[in-house]
Amino acid sequence: MNENEVMTVEQQFMANIYARKNLVIEKGSGALVWDKSGREYIDCMSAYGVAILGHCHPKIVEAIKRQAERLYSCHNSIYTEARSDFLKKLMAITPQGLKRAFLCNSGAESVEAAIKMARKSTRKTDIIAFVEGFHGKTMGALSATWNPRYRAPFEPLVPGFKHVPYGKAEAAAASITDKTAAIIVEPIQGEGGIRVPPPTFLKELRELCDKKNILLIMDEVQTGFGRTGRLFACEHSGVMPDVLCLAKSIAGGLPLGVTVAREDVVSSLKLGEHSSTFGGNPLVCAAASAAIDVMVGENLSERAATLGKHFMERLEESHEKHKIIREVRGKGLMIGVECRFDIYNILVGVQSRGAIILDAGRNILRFLPPLIIAKEQLDRVANIVDTVVGEENAKLPRLSSQPSAQDS
Ligand SMILES: Cc1ncc(COP(=O)(O)O)c(C=O)c1O
Repeated sequence: MNENEVMTVEQQFMANIYARKNLVIEKGSGALVWDKSGREYIDCMSAYGVAILGHCHPKIVEAIKRQAERLYSCHNSIYTEARSDFLKKLMAITPQGLKRAFLCNSGAESVEAAIKMARKSTRKTDIIAFVEGFHGKTMGALSATWNPRYRAPFEPLVPGFKHVPYGKAEAAAASITDKTAAIIVEPIQGEGGIRVPPPTFLKELRELCDKKNILLIMDEVQTGFGRTGRLFACEHSGVMPDVLCLAKSIAGGLPLGVTVAREDVVSSLKLGEHSSTFGGNPLVCAAASAAIDVMVGENLSERAATLGKHFMERLEESHEKHKIIREVRGKGLMIGVECRFDIYNILVGVQSRGAIILDAGRNILRFLPPLIIAKEQLDRVANIVDTVVGEENAKLPRLSSQPSAQDS
């Protein structure tokens, strides 16, 4: 099929729920992807943060091939070595008090499980979440997600969810009642605009949860697995959650969701009270084991910290030059650039010059490059962004009011 045919078929037959980029990707390697005509792009989107080790990492490819030839289906009701290998590796890297995991296939599913664990283990119903928080779009996860545009068409949602301002532990404290089971929080808000909370925020939430005897659920679907410069973003503040939600990058690009939690919290779920047919399938587990080996063996979280600092400095140079940029923020290789206007033209302009980046709302550029990206590639992206932002800046005050480009 040529590019046009590919686009036409997808547009005709797929649910029309994604704002698509005008791009057909044929193959990828490392931080690069190529379209059908052979044009190269530096990928700072990483399939929404999934391809944290880049594309077609040889160790992930090898693990998938090896496992595919042995066994690629095995339900959780039967034991298999690929799964137990992965669980051992997972438990060695996740915070120490988290002892047991539920395996599923996506971020939203990992949040669904967390909500059920919270309700079942505390025998309470209510969850406190945060303004601008994003936890997925299935009905339970959506109830924790804040954005009214995602929620309103599907109401009534699951009852008992309340949203309070992010970064303010006192707002969460004021909302706790005797029905509150848990607080769910992203250590850095991703979809909501790469929002980094004050440094004491998570610690204060932890203290609050301990005092009130409620659970702290950390949604690290986007921040987790090296992205922010530590294996898990909660490590920056030394806070251990009671429940940790992982997905996106944890299997190096394959679909895996994980809810890992305190023993008593997971064990409150009894036989049959939760399950997933595909969860923990051996192919995905083999990829995830290889991903952990690469992430830890090559110390990629530290690489994210170093490269992220450099990239943010480059973006800050653009900030100083171009009035259109309001703020550069983030941690590690999870970086946002808030602009004063809609960024649609910037996204398109950057793509036309050979880099793919994301948005996080109408006016925030989002960068989630693979952690294996070369410094020179990041510099090229910084140059491209500087040029395109400069061009947009020159158009001030007559700027685009096009719709924002994506919804995850
Ligand atoms: C923090 C967070 N939680 C949950 C999700 C939902 O993940 P998924 O799209 O895999 O269901 C996302 C997706 O962007 C996310 O960023």
